[in-house]
Order: sequence, then C-alpha cells, then structure tokens
Amino acid sequence: MSESVKVFAPGSVSNVGCGFDILGFAIDGVGDEMVVSKNDKKKIVIAPVNGYENLPTDPKKNVAGVAIQALLDDLKSNQGFDVEIVKNIKPGSGIGSSAASAAGAVVAVNELLGNPYSRMELVDFAMKGEEVASGDVHADNAAPATLGGFCLIRGYNPLDVIHIQPPKDLWCVVIHPQIEIKTKESRELLSPEVSMKKAIRQWGNVAGLMSGLYTSNYELIGRSLEDHIVEPQRKVLIPEFDELKLSVMEAGALGCSISGSGPSVFALAEGKDSADVIATAMDTAYRKTELDYKIYVSKVSDGGVRVL
Ligand code: HSE
Repeated sequence: MSESVKVFAPGSVSNVGCGFDILGFAIDGVGDEMVVSKNDKKKIVIAPVNGYENLPTDPKKNVAGVAIQALLDDLKSNQGFDVEIVKNIKPGSGIGSSAASAAGAVVAVNELLGNPYSRMELVDFAMKGEEVASGDVHADNAAPATLGGFCLIRGYNPLDVIHIQPPKDLWCVVIHPQIEIKTKESRELLSPEVSMKKAIRQWGNVAGLMSGLYTSNYELIGRSLEDHIVEPQRKVLIPEFDELKLSVMEAGALGCSISGSGPSVFALAEGKDSADVIATAMDTAYRKTELDYKIYVSKVSDGGVRVL
C-alpha cells in the first residue's frame, strides 16, 4: 500500500438555478491538487496553503482536516496524515473551493487506507468538512466533487445522493469575478420563508431539469433553469448580474444563474461551439466593469476526484 498519494479535486457548480442545496455538477479542468501522505505522528498536519495564508492550518478548522477526521472517527483509526493543498480555486468563488479540498482529502486518505469506503460513502465525510466553511450542512458541492457528474441530494437525514450522468454534449461556462463572497454571509441574507406560489414553480423546474438530464433534452434543461427563490435575493451581491445574464441568454445559453453562493455565474450550453460564443459574450459584458475576472469553458464532467 502506498504511503503518499496525489489527487486532482474538481470545482463544481451548486444549486444549478432551481436546486438550492440539492443540486450540483462537477466541472472539468478547474480544480485543486493535493498531496496526502501517511505520517507516524497520529495527527493530521495541514501545510500552509501557498497564496492563501488566511486559510486555517488547524485540522479542526480546516475543511480537509475536518473531513479526514470524520472518516478516521468512523473507522476508529488514529493514523496520522500530512496534507498539502495547491489551491487553484479561490476561496469564496462559488465554484466549490472548500468542497474540492474536503473531497480530495477523503478520497486520498481512503486510497491510502486501502479503500475501505465507496465513493458514495465518502460524500458524507466530505460534507462534514464543508460544514466548517459555510456554517451549515449541504452536499451540493461535496457530492459532485467526490462523485463527478450531476448529483441530486434527495435527502439529508440520512444523506441520500443520486448520481446522474450528464448528457454528453452538455457544456458549462463560468465567469468568476475576482471578489470574495463568503458562503456563510450569502446564506444569512436569504429569507427563511418561501411562498407556496414560488415553491410550486421551483419544484416544477427541479423535476423538469431532472427529466431533461435523463433524456438529454437540452431545451427542457434550459427551460427548467429558473430560480424564483434564491437568485432574486442574491443577485445584488454580483456586479452587473442582470446585464450579464441578458447577454449570455442572447448569445444562446440554455440557461444562466448564480454558481453556488456566488460571485461566479454559470451558463449551460449544448456543445463546445455554443459554449465558446457564450464565453465571448460574458467577456464583452464584463469588460465594461472595473473588475478582474476569469472565464472557464468546460464540459460538465462525469469525473469526481482523480487519483493522479
Ligand atoms: N447551496 C449552497 C449555497 C452552496 O448556495 O449556499 C454553497 O457553495
């Protein structure tokens, strides 16, 4: 059994418009790299993350540390691990930075321990890591980062995750304005009440999106990408959100909404050519702002954390 393992942990888009806290998908090409090694100290040791000195190295406060500890507690093991994280996803981006670290950590540790858990079982531990970052339990980034593809969280108690393979020509474009929005704060501004009228529209869209994904009906996927509950409350956090969304839809996107708790905004597209046109529209729309931003064009990935 090896003593050290390197993994790639992908970014992810959660909520996917209508599915606040219950839907997410993994993206290709954007993600963190981690090296996890066994140590003899019976302790989890997290190395300072280059470029992100404010990220905690205390394993009780670091998402990777908490996720690993949850796995070790379940296994009743006191094995120690050294964890190095190379962060390519900025924290507070809305594309699953903390979930990537938590998922990468548990997949790596599981590998080093001879894979006592299935990927599906690992989601629970990754989710516990996520909890320290957002102050709340949600698996809509942790599940797709661990498993890949689309994930529907049917229930949390007990955790019931349904993995859905993405339609083969489904692409995603994400714009990441380089401002930080803390998930905890972005959650705190949401009203705890939802009107029956809005709830009815929302669950219609969730069901429509599921049906569209299973039947590769791109038009239905697009039609269902509406969020009547969270997007209207959170869009004030994202500069020029309405203008950006309008340009993206005019450029042919299937749909567009906030990625996770923002500030990233994602659009879905059928095929790479369409995704490239949308990326250009995003670029043109956002160039007018004073903000720095990054744009990612990626296939919706069916792969979760990869052991390198
Ligand atoms: N579903 C969570 C939220 C994801 O929107 O707050 C956070 O990344």
